[in-house]
Amino acid sequence: MTAPDNCLRIFVPGDATAVACGADVIAMSLEAAAFNGKVAVSLIRNGSRGMHWLEPLVEVETARGRVAYGPVAPEDVESVFAAIVADGAPHPLCLGPTEDIPWLKKQTRLTFARCGIVDPRSLDDYRAHDGYKGLTRALADGPQAIVEEITQSGLRGRGGAGFPTGIKWQTVAKTPPQQKYIVCNADEGDSGTFADRMIMEGDPFVLIEGMTIAGIATGATKGYLYIRSEYPHAIAVMNDALSTARKAGMLGKSVAGSGYDFDMEVRVGAGAYVCGEETALLESIEGKRGQVRAKPPLPAHKGLFGQPTVINNVLSLAAVPLILDKGAAFYRDFGMGRSRGTMPIQLAGNLKYGGLFETAFGITLGELVDEIGGGCFTGRPVKAVQVGGPLGAYFPRALFDTPFDYEAFAARDGLIGHGGIVVFDDSADMAKQARFAMEFCAIESCGKCTPCRIGSTRGVETVDRIVKGVEREKNVAVLTDLCNTMKFGSLCALGGFTPYPVMSALTHFPDDFGAAPRLEAAE
Ligand SMILES: Cc1cc2nc3c(=O)[nH]c(=O)nc-3n(C[C@H](O)[C@H](O)[C@H](O)COP(=O)(O)O)c2cc1C
Ligand code: SF4
Repeated sequence: MTAPDNCLRIFVPGDATAVACGADVIAMSLEAAAFNGKVAVSLIRNGSRGMHWLEPLVEVETARGRVAYGPVAPEDVESVFAAIVADGAPHPLCLGPTEDIPWLKKQTRLTFARCGIVDPRSLDDYRAHDGYKGLTRALADGPQAIVEEITQSGLRGRGGAGFPTGIKWQTVAKTPPQQKYIVCNADEGDSGTFADRMIMEGDPFVLIEGMTIAGIATGATKGYLYIRSEYPHAIAVMNDALSTARKAGMLGKSVAGSGYDFDMEVRVGAGAYVCGEETALLESIEGKRGQVRAKPPLPAHKGLFGQPTVINNVLSLAAVPLILDKGAAFYRDFGMGRSRGTMPIQLAGNLKYGGLFETAFGITLGELVDEIGGGCFTGRPVKAVQVGGPLGAYFPRALFDTPFDYEAFAARDGLIGHGGIVVFDDSADMAKQARFAMEFCAIESCGKCTPCRIGSTRGVETVDRIVKGVEREKNVAVLTDLCNTMKFGSLCALGGFTPYPVMSALTHFPDDFGAAPRLEAAE
């Protein structure tokens, strides 16, 4: 977005985290200060840079690049504005050039390259920052070459399962011409995750571009973006971006004048964790209760409304434009083993420096928690880290050398899931966390299969007995047996992965389960 030369360009995130920290008030106060001081200001509500402890982060464009101030409280606005007008006069909240902030500098931002930089509501700004370059190449190369490029990049689904995206696309592309769909999973139900939301709020056109490329690659003409209802900001930004893209001819009967037909719409979820599971999500879009479907058939063969469907996570689709623009080899060169490219890791829980940290696969858990996250916010020792949402294992410090990699985490009975990391200090009671995992499963279970529906309720009762010291040994054996039944007998990963947090808590923190019987608390 362009502003007159004499106009100060000031950025205050409109991202939900920043707004929750008071960014709206800061934005209004800055506009009032500019009005009162008769200073011409263009105030842009950008996405967040992902340094949550610095929100609301105010940035100003200067000859030295953007300069940041944060976290700005309402009472700081006057002095911060005065410092900005005085062209960088010293101010205690001044953080210097934004790009030089070490936390940001240490990252490799591929998917989040534009987040916090562009005006999310401006298609021109998107184009000015390499937007739609991937689509241009995709249109020139054609469907089969696109699928090949995505396959060669090594991109794996960022929603949790890590399934190769290229193979999924190829399966749908190979089905005979018929109505096909692209569904983007923006249900983002995992605890401690917010990367999908941040992309949608900070760089919505990248997701539209990624879905459009997926449509052209597979012959799908219609896309659905399923966003959880708890994300009103993301829903508003995406709807706005969709109508802008449509008006500009980037969606519709002939995308960018290419003759390819692709359009998409937003569908709002109804608040069930299981609706993030791909087949329950399809049921939900079809207007039914969110219940898991048995597989086969795979959604790629018989998905939405019984038609071939690609379902991908926001981050998987948002990585696509860059892969097409820079080439598969560029993306594949980042990472380790079979985990290629970068992962937007979400640091949450009891951490000093929480936020979005995008980096190549291979960084260790210890580096993320101790160095990047700065340890616990409370100043107490880190006791456990849950990686991969509510179905992820709890890792103790002894496993902090685990590299962020799908296979390395699986080898230690864990998962990286959607890249969420939730940190607990030494005051956490891991038996309570294990009970919570079972209780969560019992509440969120869709009820379709017995191991999950009944097992989770029996699991809560068994953990309670262990903690109360009632026939401890016997009940630990029952819990282990129950977890195995859920793991191997459940229809989907909700029941199948709940044993991971439960068993990891029991294995790594046995003392919290009352190694010595506490009969005074017995039933
Ligand atoms: C209970 C449950 C919840 C899930 N929630 C999400 C979610 O919120 N977002 C998501 O992308 N995938 C979620 N998944 C994974 C999806 O089923 C599916 O694997 C994913 O959307 C595929 O996209 P990807 O290949 O790009 O990862 C969930 C799976 C289960 C079992
Ligand atoms: S594991 Fe749970 S959520 Fe998944 S199908 Fe079975 S009952 Fe439904």
